[in-house]
Amino acid sequence: MNTVMKTIIEPFRIKSVEPITMTTRAEREAKLKNAHYNLFGLASADVLIDLLTDSGTGAMSSEQWAAIMRGDESYAGSPSFNRFEAAVKNLMPFKHVIPTHQGRAAEAILFKIIGGEGKNIPSNTHFDTTRGNIEATGALAFDLNIDEGRNSQSLHPFKGNMDLQKLESFLIEHGKSVPCVMLTITNNAGGGQPVSLENIRAVAKIAKAHKRPFIIDGCRFAENAWFIKQREPGQKDRSIIDIVRDCFADADGMTMSAKKDAFANIGGWLALNDDELAENARVLLIQTEGFVTYGGLAGRDLDAIAQGLSEIIDEDYLRYRIGTNQYISDRLDAMGVPVVKPAGGHAVFIDAKAWLPHIEPLQYPAQALANRLYEIGGIRGVEIGSLMFGRQPDGTEKPAAMELVRLAIPRRTYTQSHADYLLEAFELLMGEKDSLRGLRVIKEPRLMRHFTCQLQPL
Ligand code: F0G
Repeated sequence: MNTVMKTIIEPFRIKSVEPITMTTRAEREAKLKNAHYNLFGLASADVLIDLLTDSGTGAMSSEQWAAIMRGDESYAGSPSFNRFEAAVKNLMPFKHVIPTHQGRAAEAILFKIIGGEGKNIPSNTHFDTTRGNIEATGALAFDLNIDEGRNSQSLHPFKGNMDLQKLESFLIEHGKSVPCVMLTITNNAGGGQPVSLENIRAVAKIAKAHKRPFIIDGCRFAENAWFIKQREPGQKDRSIIDIVRDCFADADGMTMSAKKDAFANIGGWLALNDDELAENARVLLIQTEGFVTYGGLAGRDLDAIAQGLSEIIDEDYLRYRIGTNQYISDRLDAMGVPVVKPAGGHAVFIDAKAWLPHIEPLQYPAQALANRLYEIGGIRGVEIGSLMFGRQPDGTEKPAAMELVRLAIPRRTYTQSHADYLLEAFELLMGEKDSLRGLRVIKEPRLMRHFTCQLQPL
């Protein structure tokens, strides 16, 4: 007789709730038109289930709220900083930990120092703010993800991996113009796909052989570690904390958004081993973020991060977290919706190019899909395709490698009935998808246009 429970439940109960305002489809159609068909332009009160991002949208624990009260707001030498620094170093033993108000601030500081005209920076896939910060300095950003990472149907267990051959050739070709090698774990833009420990170590080794610093974008390090534990030979009996430490052991630094795998609503850091680089970073930090012991954050935020870092490595949490994604992804797959497989860590990705072949990539099929999902169910996802990546530094436009809709799942925020509601919206979408039309951009800024551009249906 089976005596072991198999149902994965949310490993928490709810102490405080935020009501959701119900709206009708007609109301949502009007709201979207007002927002110029850009979901970033919607008021969040007009969204029923907000899957725009998993960043800063998670629910904090009661212990994190308690830590908030412990926060010390001293300008210099706050004990909150000491707790924050110790919590980071417990997982990622870098010499210098520099707090920033979020991940992109860490990126901006790093690339202001090591970027610039003529520099070339490879990664598996740069996230959009990383690319934006690199390009803003005049440097170029390159994505060297393995080919499987661009094939939504490939079942490769580590689709976030760097193509080691390409990296090697890149470093030979570009030599000293490469100020660092980056690696994003998990690979957000590529589908929330993990990078194996073996690949992380190999990238570190190649970077070292070429005497280039190796920097990890560690936003979703715990989810990545969970995948390593599940999928990588020899890792299944190891603790998450040991796997996390191994992931960062051979790196020279990291950028981090604490809004993801630190369960915080705001925050980030830049960690470095090199003394001179760290000193330069701290100068910029003081100039743009704040003093070295708070870096653009309140002391209470540092305490929330410190506590969050002790919770994110909990295996019951990670099992539920990845299980939620799997649940949604498997059911969409069974329905015939082309999802990126295997399910990623923080989000479900729908392959709009495959599902809406009648819409040209430069008419943004994924945006059309995300918009209709909002109209049908009040669910907000985000386009990760030619609208986000199509505009080139030289002003031309070319199709992105993939046209995806990302449904990012905030941490500890929604329940299984929200997931079932989402699945029902896709059943309706199934009947409407052939009538969807593409869009055109009528107004856009110079960089990172997807956040603020205005669109019009064709
Ligand atoms: N790197 C990755 C891989 C990210 O996913 C993000 C943010 C950042 C860096 C920047 O961090 O937002 O704290 O400045 N991603 C969010 C998202 C915005 O929705 O995926 P940040």
